[in-house]
Amino acid sequence: MNNKEIVAKAIYAVVKEDLSLETVTQLLENPKSVDHGDVAFPAFSLAKVYRKAPQQIATDLAEKIAGTDFEKIEVVGPYLNFFMNKKMVSQAVIGQIAKEKGHYGDSSIGEKGNVPIDMSSPNIAKPISMGHLRSTVIGNSIAFILEKIGYTPIRINHLGDWGTQFGKLIVAYKKWGSEEGVKTAPITELLRLYVQFHEEAETQPDLEEEARAWFKKLEEGDEEATQLWQWFRTESLKEFDKIYSMLEVSFDSYNGEAFYNDKMDEIVTMLEEKHLLQENQGAEIVDLTAYDLNPALIKKSDGATLYITRDLAAAVYRKRNYDFAKSIYVVGNEQSNHFKQLKAVLNELGFDWSDDMHHVPFGLITQGGKKLSTRKGKIVLLEEVLNEAVTLANNQIMEKNPDLPNREEVARQVGIGSVIFHDLKNDRLNNFDFVLEEVVRFEGETGPYVQYTHARAMSILRKADFTIDETKEYALDDKDSWEVIKLLQKFPDVVMQAADKYEPSVIAKHAIQVAQAFNKYYAHVKILTDDAQKESRLALVYAMATIIKEDLRLLGLHAPDEM
Ligand code: ARG
Repeated sequence: MNNKEIVAKAIYAVVKEDLSLETVTQLLENPKSVDHGDVAFPAFSLAKVYRKAPQQIATDLAEKIAGTDFEKIEVVGPYLNFFMNKKMVSQAVIGQIAKEKGHYGDSSIGEKGNVPIDMSSPNIAKPISMGHLRSTVIGNSIAFILEKIGYTPIRINHLGDWGTQFGKLIVAYKKWGSEEGVKTAPITELLRLYVQFHEEAETQPDLEEEARAWFKKLEEGDEEATQLWQWFRTESLKEFDKIYSMLEVSFDSYNGEAFYNDKMDEIVTMLEEKHLLQENQGAEIVDLTAYDLNPALIKKSDGATLYITRDLAAAVYRKRNYDFAKSIYVVGNEQSNHFKQLKAVLNELGFDWSDDMHHVPFGLITQGGKKLSTRKGKIVLLEEVLNEAVTLANNQIMEKNPDLPNREEVARQVGIGSVIFHDLKNDRLNNFDFVLEEVVRFEGETGPYVQYTHARAMSILRKADFTIDETKEYALDDKDSWEVIKLLQKFPDVVMQAADKYEPSVIAKHAIQVAQAFNKYYAHVKILTDDAQKESRLALVYAMATIIKEDLRLLGLHAPDEM
């Protein structure tokens, strides 16, 4: 039970006749200052019922409320300030973490329901962008968070591996490409060919026609076209996999857009049968005026299908194949309209499960406040960014702890982790600037700071040769530990909030708060002093390290024991 629940119950016991438990709970406030206790109840809400001055009501209530749950209840003006019994709460919280370890905060709310998470989803033959990085790490974290509350996440990489651009690539490769080139540096070479195609097409418009013809061949299963496409895809995936393995993200499915090539006819037929398709200058559209949206373009005048056509097929496939409890798309904010249209068309088709589909959008990573551009060949190569982060982390570890035995491994966990953490610590809709040196710092609100706090706690436990004993009772009642304990107690609520909002930043912020509170505690209190509370202090250090590690795990980061 959290403190609000404990207080609400205590108040409810004496105002049963007049207020519901729910109302009492809603009225409770978090006092701004610790001097005002842990939970506050404003008594004005009862003034009308009792026809007394709020202050008097507060005093009366304070007298009636009994129990050992509180150290004291203070009346300040119309407010009742509750000071929790620190011993009881700390004993309960530390005890529960000692028993449940990393499983503290787990729940079964999700009832094992499947949740496909459409994440990462870069485009073949193009570099994986910072946007795709965001989708990858946000999606991966949401998967861990939902799993913690009992869902079964399914990580799907909906690769952009289909569309007219493959016609262009085939033409460009046949004219100006080489097998060597693609093999040595697939993405760079394919991007070069793509850019060259567009340059040459400006003076040779025939090229566009040729490209359309090749894409048509591809759609019809022509052998040469299919082989080339397959090869571009395989080579690109090899490049993507380097990044995925650095981030330690893996996928349950790589079914990209091409996978739905033979599943779109059915959708078009359904749309026809429901008389939803309209002709517009030779193209087929679904009118969405009723939703205040632009029409969804389902088929071009040359019969080619589009991005949304494939997403319609994918949505239906996922419902059938996974019978999902909900279906999530972690895709940039700029595609919001696309997902509104997608849901609207499914709704028109009568699929009420479209309500269970959620677009989880996010903002841009900027540089100097400006959008990073991948056009014109100017690209930030993610692999380089990640490698650089590892180097910076390594430099700092060399300074702080030159004898660390597994330094390389730790540098990787810290360097890569710092980039992930930086991406997840802000509300996902915010744009943010990326300055690598700041991301990898060991101070401030960074991943390395949180990891370092964990390592420090582990070193204290090693020094004391402490192992937690779940049958023992550990309790603390000092002010310094209380701040840490309250944050640990809150963790299950924090997980629920993050899951409700699909917002990993809630977890990241909690990790930062725990680290800060612990470092303050560590600065004020001599943990290893031999006295009656030493064991309890060490148990708190253990509980803190356990929760910070779990916070980090939910974000996709390691918590090294030493760094
Ligand atoms: N490949 C797309 C892009 O890079 C993202 C795909 C997102 N997923 C989806 N089901 N539409 O913009």
